[in-house]
Amino acid sequence: MAQNVSSVKLIDGDRRLDGRGVTDLRSLKITAGVLKKAGGSALVEWGKNKVLAGVYGPREVFPKHMTDPYKAIINCKYSMASFSSLEDHGRAGPNRRAIEIGKVAKHVFENNIFTNLFPKTMVNISMEVLQSDGGTRIAGITAASVAVVDAGIPVKDLVQGVSVGKIGGRLVVDLDKIEDNMGQSDIPVIVSLRSKEVLLYQLDGMLTRDDINEGMDLVFEAAKLVREKQVQALKEKYERVEEQVADEKPAAGKETEEVM
Ligand code: CDP
Repeated sequence: MAQNVSSVKLIDGDRRLDGRGVTDLRSLKITAGVLKKAGGSALVEWGKNKVLAGVYGPREVFPKHMTDPYKAIINCKYSMASFSSLEDHGRAGPNRRAIEIGKVAKHVFENNIFTNLFPKTMVNISMEVLQSDGGTRIAGITAASVAVVDAGIPVKDLVQGVSVGKIGGRLVVDLDKIEDNMGQSDIPVIVSLRSKEVLLYQLDGMLTRDDINEGMDLVFEAAKLVREKQVQALKEKYERVEEQVADEKPAAGKETEEVM
């Protein structure tokens, strides 16, 4: 929740508290295929955020009465581990915030997955926040998009997120927790670079129309870098699979020797 707390100086000249410039992203590492049992998975380590996404499906719909004869239904679950931030979150299970994030993520993937190709099925997408430091819904959906592609589910595009907001009167991208909590505003955005669509946009705080126009340009620019990391993660996953398959193949001649 953005609050204007003037006593915290979040930006000095062009330098933010953690040393970043206004358009710098925090360090970002994406690993695809981290879970053996899920259909698809990805881990996103973004600054101090660590978010794991897992995908199951398309599979039979449960409960059955939810079945859609024309398309797959998409379920998205976001949850924050009790040990994910400085204060223990205490009670497990979804709160209002987690339900909201699951709902906005569902809208993203309903507009991203070719659901009409899998009528009468469902796709379950889970985002588990292991460690949080601002921007976890963005990190979660970015991870989930890689996990959906890793599961082999046809999509219109890899989607990715970046947040933009205002601290100390300056527009900045990829706000961390202190910038999000103490800054003037914060907009998490999910985009598709291929179609130039905005799939999620949630404004917290106040911005002028010019700020928003400029901010969206910054988001689309930064999203290119996030997309590169997603593509790289998927390529690395398939390189690992190729290596494993090669290792498992019997060496030429070995089989014949054993038979003899
Ligand atoms: O994480 P995101 O920016 O998508 O959501 P937020 O509601 O704006 O929360 C910003 C940050 O506050 C989170 O990333 C967490 O670090 C922290 N937070 C928390 O620790 N416990 C909560 N119940 C909500 C937020």
